[in-house]
Amino acid sequence: MYGAETTAPIDMTRTWAPEVPAFREHVERSLLAAARAPDLASTIQRHRFHGSARDKQAAADWLSKRLGAPPTPTRLLVTGGTQNTLVVLFSRLAAEGAAIAAEKLTYAAIGQLAMLGRIRVLPVDIDEDGMCDDSLEALCKAHNLAAVYINPTGHNPTTSMMSLRRRQSLVRVARKYALPIIEDDVHGLITKNAPPPLASIAPDLTWYLMSVSKCLGIGLRTAYLIAPSDDSLADLLRPIPSVSSWFVPGLSAAIITYLIESGAASQIVGEISKEIAARQDIAQEMLGHLGVMHTNKSSLHVWIDLPSPWTAEPFIRAARLNGVSLRHPRVFATPGVNVEHNIRASLIAPTTHEDLRRGLSALADLLVSRT
Ligand SMILES: Cc1ncc(COP(=O)(O)O)c(C=O)c1O
Repeated sequence: MYGAETTAPIDMTRTWAPEVPAFREHVERSLLAAARAPDLASTIQRHRFHGSARDKQAAADWLSKRLGAPPTPTRLLVTGGTQNTLVVLFSRLAAEGAAIAAEKLTYAAIGQLAMLGRIRVLPVDIDEDGMCDDSLEALCKAHNLAAVYINPTGHNPTTSMMSLRRRQSLVRVARKYALPIIEDDVHGLITKNAPPPLASIAPDLTWYLMSVSKCLGIGLRTAYLIAPSDDSLADLLRPIPSVSSWFVPGLSAAIITYLIESGAASQIVGEISKEIAARQDIAQEMLGHLGVMHTNKSSLHVWIDLPSPWTAEPFIRAARLNGVSLRHPRVFATPGVNVEHNIRASLIAPTTHEDLRRGLSALADLLVSRT
């Protein structure tokens, strides 16, 4: 325990890509390259719409690391991040009042984005393998779903890693009901030995999203979208050819394309993966013996089962008194789902390993104290 009055609390709320030495070195170089490039003015002063041909080629090469083969650039867009893309996908795939399905605990932005699009989110059961195919099938039978949003690789918030078998079962259900899949693969490139994405099992059904937020930097506001087909991409864009709210910022695109083409992006991702693994080792050391932690070696956070009688609200209050900030897990719940017996703790937000140890040690003390 230490003086919460005099020491800033250790933030264990949010996750992002950890800072690594290769990041500064290469991003500094790419900024200089962008500044000196003959096309600096057009990079900043002109539309880049959905990414230049060069951005798309670099993206296709980069995504082939995850998809097994480069996607055709005609199905690929470079956008202003996952959330901007989801706003568009939700509103184009689901009419006002329609429903999409999502894991019952899901990315905190999903409920907010659905509210903006005036669509409903229906919860699908999850287990240690991620979204349950039988639960999705029951929803498909009962509702006319417009799409299903799935985060199968390093699920946020539970950290589950969906097996290949479950991926195939979900695809079978989606295919049976002609249900478009929106796959959020934000952790795909930082996950060692990740099973293949749904997009490579069912490319014709899947809107695949890969953000750079967790593998390079969230401030770049950039994601890649691969459509199920050239035609579906054309349909998506037809009524909104010039809505710039989801276009990639030119400078970000230039930086990322430089990082990919020079090989620096892979180096940064390699260092990020090592840093995550080091922080996961610390989490194992501090919490592993308590038997309450769900995680995977590549996760930016851990998901903790609160032992009875702890529930989320008093645990968060007690953590705060002991110098640690946490978020209530209700932010991850789809409507009607209660989540009181878990906490997500970021391993990345604490600046140093020493801070991480202190934060986890405070949580461990509380978890064993049970009051
Ligand atoms: C599940 C999930 N998807 C996507 C993102 C990234 O979204 P964006 O690309 O809008 O930064 C995050 C985190 O920031 C996330 O947790």
